[in-house]
Amino acid sequence: MIVKDKIEELRATLHRHNYNYYVLNAPEISDKEFDMLMHELQRLEEEYPEFYDENSPSMRVGSDLNKDFVQVPHKYPMLSLSNTYSEEEITDFYNRVYKALNEEFEICCELKYDGTSISLTYENGKLVRAVTRGDGEKGDDVTNNVKTIRTIPLVLSGDTYPSLFEIRGEILMPWTVFEELNKDREAREEPLFANPRNAASGTLKQQNSSIVASRKLDAYLYYLLGDNLPYNGHYENLLEAEKWGFKISKATRKCSSLEEVFQFVRYWDIERKNLPVATDGIVLKVNNLLQQKNLGFTAKSPRWAIAYKFQAERALTRLEKVTYQVGRTGAVTPVANLEPVQLSGTTVKRASLHNADIIEGLDLHIGDMVYVEKGGEIIPKITGVDVDARGFMLGEKVRFITHCPECGSKLVRYEGEAAHYCPNETACPPQIKGKIEHFISRKAMNIDGLGPETVDMFYRLGLIKNTADLYQLTVDDIKGLDRMGVKSAENIVKGIIRSKEVPFERVVFALGIRFVGETVAKKIARSFANVDELVQADVEKLKNIDEIGEKIAQSIINFFSNTSNRELVERLKGVGLQLYRTEEDAEKYSDKLAGQSIVISGVFAHHSRDEYKEMIEKNGGKNVGSISSKTSFILAGENMGPAKLEKAAKLGVKIMTEDEFLAIIS
Ligand code: IVH
Repeated sequence: MIVKDKIEELRATLHRHNYNYYVLNAPEISDKEFDMLMHELQRLEEEYPEFYDENSPSMRVGSDLNKDFVQVPHKYPMLSLSNTYSEEEITDFYNRVYKALNEEFEICCELKYDGTSISLTYENGKLVRAVTRGDGEKGDDVTNNVKTIRTIPLVLSGDTYPSLFEIRGEILMPWTVFEELNKDREAREEPLFANPRNAASGTLKQQNSSIVASRKLDAYLYYLLGDNLPYNGHYENLLEAEKWGFKISKATRKCSSLEEVFQFVRYWDIERKNLPVATDGIVLKVNNLLQQKNLGFTAKSPRWAIAYKFQAERALTRLEKVTYQVGRTGAVTPVANLEPVQLSGTTVKRASLHNADIIEGLDLHIGDMVYVEKGGEIIPKITGVDVDARGFMLGEKVRFITHCPECGSKLVRYEGEAAHYCPNETACPPQIKGKIEHFISRKAMNIDGLGPETVDMFYRLGLIKNTADLYQLTVDDIKGLDRMGVKSAENIVKGIIRSKEVPFERVVFALGIRFVGETVAKKIARSFANVDELVQADVEKLKNIDEIGEKIAQSIINFFSNTSNRELVERLKGVGLQLYRTEEDAEKYSDKLAGQSIVISGVFAHHSRDEYKEMIEKNGGKNVGSISSKTSFILAGENMGPAKLEKAAKLGVKIMTEDEFLAIIS
């Protein structure tokens, strides 16, 4: 068989097994056999890149390219649904529809999945684009990430699908995956995701699609849009879409009376607790598409659909006391300590009170009976006080503390922020430990073998008081400590030494300057040759850097105006950390396109779009999705669309060819 045919056959086979496994839950071959077929395909694709196919099953594995997302407009805006909370309101909806239509109608009842919505476009049976909701008008193009989700077909089956259509649905992280992920993050002392919804949307915005691939997201599809849909009924179209390879919820039902709708609602109100993914309600949709059209939309939502939201589970219990936690940034969080109470299958003893304003708003007193809700968050929250349950003796009013419970410093509250902070950044124990933990974390210095517990132990024993002390540790210092053999001790010391190779941008991130996340750290590292230049920079100079405004600039200035921080940086320099740009870094980046907004359009001969995007960014430019008067120029390949050409001409935006562009940046 010729190679091309072999590759195509493997692709078709893998698409089929993927569907059997992930959508039908009925695998026909073992995981091992699947992996072997996949490896065979990957091997052939690597050897014969001329047969590249962007929808090959191998694309599900993801790539390591680091990309920001391009914003694209939605062809049909992504609206929301109006919410209802009672059977009466459902009846109102039903009557409203009947009055407007003046004829019989059916209702399609669906679960309201609590994930992050996605709009998928298929052209000639192939997934061409996946866009997040964004602001409803435009969203982020996350196609490469979405391709890693196994329940989303890259290539459709059968031949009844329209040549062009959109399908919308919800991307979800199953509870089990969510819990595992958080356990993992806890062990690495990374911030936890509050709920599977945040985890799913956070994952989808990952710039590294192989991380997305590892997170095992799932997707249910529930809304088809296009001109030539096969049926006139929404439900019938969903069943057809299931044949094309989409995962459609088995719960979906078509009802022809209000009573049937209520049965569905009452059943799922209870049964939803047994589902593998989070749901927060039920969606009712008029089934007939013509009737939908007649009913139309308000500015925000369709008149033909409504969401019924499940009541969040709630329990009543007594507030025993309020304690305060100090985090890495010095932010102080009040925590309600409760008389233990059962809530959705777990015992709740503590709940977040968020900040001083919330406490004040609740007019909280010790001994109050309080309502605790879970509402999809892992940390339950206090949502109200049962004032009637207060007896003659009202407990002491809860007042937010004025001094840090860890170090005694007077707390401060920055303008515009709800949180109180302990300002004693360099000597408050949880802040010091937090800073060290941040410093060693994966995205910062990535020191293997060191975790929060070990840091805590070293700190308690007085072995380290700051990040620079890590570089003084010897195997002799730490071997023989609690659960620390010679081997582990050696690994830790090796990990510490190895971290001296971490590039400038990550060292800047590792310093833990407030508001300086990974992206800002990168921009800083590209703008300064070394840390001394950074220390000397004034607000104006900092604000000239992309992504840095007054707040971040001020925070950087504050950080370096603190003598202990400057001494620390000197010590880190002394032990050999890369607090400077290397030749290699400098070669990788230039500012040839600094301050320029560039649109990429058309098909290119020399490089892929992604490669051009990377080149733009490495040269200090910004890739933007749509043409505006602020666009500096359009990098245009073949077949740039007529609408774009017209817009460019109208706004007088320059069009640059591939060759011209390459000449500029070479
Ligand atoms: S239909 C024009 N169906 O709920 C209406 N939405 O508040 C299009 N959602 O943004 C949405 N399950 O993210 C629809 N079965 C379902 C849904 C559902 C969850 C989400 C979706 C949407 C939001 C609307």
